[in-house]
This record gives sequence, C-alpha cells and structure tokens, in this order.
Amino acid sequence: RADQLQRGLVGIQAAPAKAAHDALTIVYGSQTGQAKRIATQLSERAAAAGLSVRLVRADAYSQRELAKEKHLVVVISTQGDAEPPDDARGLVEFVLGKRAPKLAGLRYAVLGLGDSSYPQFCAIGRQLDERLAELGAARFAPFGEADVDIEAVAGPWAEQALEQAKKLVGAQPPAARVATLQPVPSRATHSRERPFAASVLDNQTIVARDAARDVRHVELSLEGSGLSYQPGDAVGVWPQNPPGLVQQWLSLLQLDGEQLANHDGRSLPLRQWLTSERELTRLSRPLIAALADASGDEGLAQLLRPDQSRALATLLSDHQPIDLWRRHPAAWSAEELVAALRPLTPRLYSIASSQKVVGDEVHLTVATVDYIAHGERHWGAASSFISAANDERRLPIYIEANERFRLPKDDARDVIMIGPGTGVAPFRAFVQERRETGARGRNWLFFGNRHFTSEFLYQLEWQAALRDGSLNRLDLAFSRDGASKIYVQQRLREQGRELYAWLQEGAHLYVCGDANHMAKDVHAALIDVAIAHGGQTPEQAKEWLGELLQQGRYARDVY
Ligand code: 2AM
Repeated sequence: RADQLQRGLVGIQAAPAKAAHDALTIVYGSQTGQAKRIATQLSERAAAAGLSVRLVRADAYSQRELAKEKHLVVVISTQGDAEPPDDARGLVEFVLGKRAPKLAGLRYAVLGLGDSSYPQFCAIGRQLDERLAELGAARFAPFGEADVDIEAVAGPWAEQALEQAKKLVGAQPPAARVATLQPVPSRATHSRERPFAASVLDNQTIVARDAARDVRHVELSLEGSGLSYQPGDAVGVWPQNPPGLVQQWLSLLQLDGEQLANHDGRSLPLRQWLTSERELTRLSRPLIAALADASGDEGLAQLLRPDQSRALATLLSDHQPIDLWRRHPAAWSAEELVAALRPLTPRLYSIASSQKVVGDEVHLTVATVDYIAHGERHWGAASSFISAANDERRLPIYIEANERFRLPKDDARDVIMIGPGTGVAPFRAFVQERRETGARGRNWLFFGNRHFTSEFLYQLEWQAALRDGSLNRLDLAFSRDGASKIYVQQRLREQGRELYAWLQEGAHLYVCGDANHMAKDVHAALIDVAIAHGGQTPEQAKEWLGELLQQGRYARDVY
C-alpha cells in the first residue's frame, strides 16, 4: 500500500461515459478524508488488477448515472449520530428517498466507515446497502463496517470485493488502462503510513493560569519534510498514551511492563504495546463485548442489545476503557489485554496557520484533556502527548487535506466563520491567508468560550486584524461570564438580519468545533435566521441550508 501511495497513482476521474458503465465505479462520501483514502486505494488496486475503474466523489456523481450503473462500490462514512458526510448528503437523500430508480441491473458493494463509540455505528453505510437491495440491485460483496482502526476491516473487505469485481467487470486493454492512471508528482513524501517527525518550535499556554482547561498554541517545523498544506487542512498526529495512564493499567492488572507480549506476529514489551500501539482513551463496542465476555457480566452484555442504545451512548461518552475495567475486572494476561484493545489511531487537528505566512511551519491549537472522573485522573491521548512535546521529543505527523473546507475560490466573496473554543483554529489560518493574499471579500468571525478574561483565544491577533481590516466583524459569546449562558448561536440570531444579507450576497459559511451539540445548535439557529429574515418556511429553510451544504458554500469541520 505504501508503495502504491509513493508511486502517486491516483484514481481516475471521469473516464469516457460510454466505457464507464462497463467499468467499476467507486463512489466515496468522506468528511475527514478516510473514506476518500480507502476508496482511492481500492481504485488503485482495481486498476492494477486490470479493471477499468472510475473514482468519483459523491457530490460529483450525478443521480442520473445511478440508473445506468452496472458495477458500483460505495465507500462512505457515518458522522456522529447517523449523519452522512456533507459531500454525500445529496446522494444519500436521493437513494434513500422516494424518487430513487429501480436498480435491477446493478451489482454493488458498500463499505461503511464509522466509530463504534457511537451507538449508530456505520448507520449511513448500512442504510445505503439495504436500500440498494430494496431497489432491486444485487450485492457482489457483503456490507462491510470498518471501525476507527479502518484497515483491519477495510483491507480484507477490499480484497474480497475486488476478487468478485474481477469476475464481473470487463478488463481494460492494457494500453487504455495505463492511460487512465495519472501519475501525480510525488509530493507525498510523508503520509499517514510514513509520518514526518516534526520538531517543536513553540508550545505555549494561551489561556490564563486559572482557566479550567489548558489550551496550547503549538508551532511545529515542517522543514525538510516536503509537506505542504492549505487553510482548512488538518494535521494528523500519531500520539503516545500518557505514561500515567499506562501505569494505571499495569498496576490494575498487576502486569509487568517489561514482559514481552505477542500479538499479530509481533513481540513487544507490554509497556510499549500500551504506550504506542493500543487505544487506551476511547471506548468501543468490541471492547465492551470483550469485557462482558471476560468478566461474565450480564448487565454489560445487555447494553449491547439494540434497545439499549441510549444507555450505551451514555456509557461510551462518559467513560474510558479503564473505568469499565475497574467496574468489571477481567483477569487478562498481557496478551489478552493487547488482543482486546484496538490499535491506536492518529488524531486530527485543524491547522491554525497559513503557509503563505508561516512558511515551513504549521500551527495548532490544542485543548489539553486532563480531568478527574469516577474518582480517578483521566487524560486525552494526543492532547497530553502534544502538550508535553518539547525540543527533545518530535511529533509524528502528516497532513490530512480537507477539500470540503476551503476558502472561496473567488476572493471577492465574504466569509462567515463560526468557531467557539479550539474550533477557532482554522479561522486563524483563514484570516492569515486572506490578509496575505489581499482578498477582497469581508470576514466575519463568531467566537465563544467560557470566560472573556481567561479564554479569549488569540485575542490580540483578532484585535490587530480588526484594526488592519483583515477582520471586518467579530462577535463574541462568553458563556460563563454572566448570569445565564450565552453561546455563539445566540449571537447568530441577534445578528440574523445582517447574517442573512451576507448569505444572500453569496457569503460562504464555515463552522468548526464540537459536532454533538454546537454544530447542531448552530444549524438550528441558521434555520431560524432564514425563517425570521428570509421569509422562509421551516421546510424551505432546511432545504436551503441542505443545498448550501451540498454546494460546499456551508462547510463544517466538526468532531
Ligand atoms: P459552556 O462550557 O459554558 O457550556 C467552547 O467550549 C465554548 O462552547 C464554551 O463557552 C462552551 O460553553 C460553549 N458551548 C457548550 N455547549 C455549546 C453548544 N451546544 N453550542 C454552542 N456553544 C456551546
């Protein structure tokens, strides 16, 4: 795989329409780039196996094509609570809706991506898979569901799907096949699989000492990496678990960190497994199942039943693996522990700098997760790792492009940015970029946090930007300074008339930060604004926002 990545072969955009229907069409819907990556790898393998392949992002796939399609693979993620990725909203709505055509001539396979710490794991993929069958199409591979350690499922699934596809899909004549592979300049010297060891140039707290949570501004060097990025992109960080947490596990299970443990043909000291190889801070369904099994706890097993999804959701969001283990101890050996825990995966941080301004650097805004719960200290893996970074410890990183979160191509367009908390990070990059390039459009930022005096992130920079005109408006919502809570969505409603006018004039709208509450509440506020100031009905307002999302004029980077 790494080899293919390095050769820089990309999947094929539109092959001629006639050939396309004898080809394998791979459609992906991706929010954070994972589904795109998996779909791209699959298309490369299919092309290498001699198939005629076409790789299409869901919002570039016309709904009319579907009725004519013969061989289709869909790779699609599920966001949070059973939401499609924004680029696939139109397609998902169409396929699940009443106007979907009969698809008796279609053979298909769906790979869902998701996070089993949400109860509606892979829901969008599953709904598509079931709906396509209902429309008369026939599966050529069973529905696959990949958890956050995507490769564990996606690799074997792709292999199997490809074997079947080979039997169904016409091969390309070798010459034509070669023509469809477009080598791209091999910029990708470093990737998720081959991260760059970045040195830390700066790592400083940007909240007051008395703030409840530490927030860091971190500057990393990309010098010599060949890596480049655009505003809107993210940095992927391969974290290590905090030593304190590793020690908690070793003490609780009374295991020796230096003993070797074998798993998957690798033999490493247990401490190393737990530090660098295993997920210790995120709970998942398979782990609950393994623990229910090992501890023989009936109550725990019951939580996995479909009618318990609410209780499971609470458990998943309020606990780390070790909390559950404390409550339902299982006598695991080192090997059993390593087998039960899933592999550690990288974390994405929205980039807070414009490369046009900072050159060979990349800046991040990191909230340190470190708290007491259930009577014990808890940490976030990546935030602790990054916060502890210094001159001696380099960070393994890569760039994760986010094509859906981009400044308008037309720099005369206005932009509206909504980013409470560390969600403000990409907007620092946006404002830097717009200032540097002399963009003509106006910039409006909504920022919120708990306290004005202690948590106004990048306060001096925003004030300077207001003065030099690179920020035109700044609306603030400090939630815990007054008698009642004030959130950014309240400011959106208060400024509704003007906000709506900006949007009518073609402004682009961006939201970054918490997906579970903030992004939903902001969405609801935008609907209210369209009703109050655009004279729209609730249905029209919903549809209008849906269209803006689909067009990419309303973009979300939420997690
Ligand atoms: P709170 O913690 O006082 O509730 C960044 O975390 C800011 O987002 C904080 O001021 C936080 O307020 C606020 N916040 C919490 N829930 C929110 C929501 N549903 N919508 C918007 N902002 C929210």
